[in-house]
Amino acid sequence: MSKSDKYPSESGRRRFVKGVVGGATLAGVGAMGSATVNTLTTAGGVGGGSTVAMTIAKAGGPAPRGLPQIPVRVTDDGFIEGVWPDVTTVEQEGQEVEVAQQDLGGRLYSGEWFQYCGVESQENVQPNFESDNLFRAVDGPPYDWQSETYEGGDRIHVDDFDDYDSWGNGIGNDGVGKPALVRWRSEEAGTDLNALVIRSERIEAAAEEDDWVDASTDQGFMAYLNVCTHFCCIPGYKELEESSRYDAADGSYCVCHQSVYDPFTLEEALFIARPRPD
Ligand code: FES
Repeated sequence: MSKSDKYPSESGRRRFVKGVVGGATLAGVGAMGSATVNTLTTAGGVGGGSTVAMTIAKAGGPAPRGLPQIPVRVTDDGFIEGVWPDVTTVEQEGQEVEVAQQDLGGRLYSGEWFQYCGVESQENVQPNFESDNLFRAVDGPPYDWQSETYEGGDRIHVDDFDDYDSWGNGIGNDGVGKPALVRWRSEEAGTDLNALVIRSERIEAAAEEDDWVDASTDQGFMAYLNVCTHFCCIPGYKELEESSRYDAADGSYCVCHQSVYDPFTLEEALFIARPRPD
């Protein structure tokens, strides 16, 4: 194992679990980012407000907080889907509004986790948007294995991740986790929701020790919204050689301003969800 291995297998597991259990990492997330969003968005609209999301941790760079996690499950026929919360009606600011939220793994999982960077205006984060929730391969993915296996729009299947404990592409270490770049709830939508799915032994191990990881992952699969919380670029997991210069070769790296995220450390992040437009 090289010194540059940021996520050695044993300590990697501890990091993952600690980040979750130690909810202490309730980062004031981005005090700056939050305050800015708050100022800009509390004046009008409903369906937003402060929310505590589970995120893959920000590990470096200017991003104010991590990327929100998308709970996943494997369907009976082996396809991977994201869980969209149950839809309920609540009262906010004197108005009745529909929200997508449910208890999951001892936490409140909410559609508000995805209301930033303009995503809040997309129809596919509206609570009642009809979608099958299956992850579908993007066109032109950065991973050879994915372009050799799927056409854009194909559902991704557990059998295609059999080599997840050894997969590598020459960036960082092999066997960290096998990715697929996907879109979610986007088949009937005007704008894609971009997500990244990873299958990893580290996630499997963490799920044995923590209720949230157990509830939000399945057979080693986890997912997150792939929209940088800094200025909304699309980060890349094991995409660019230069990510090694920022200690991110086994993580997620945003080339725009060198923010780094760690998919194997989950932590709470407090931020202000932008209201959905009426
Ligand atoms: S680091 Fe600036 S947009 Fe990602």
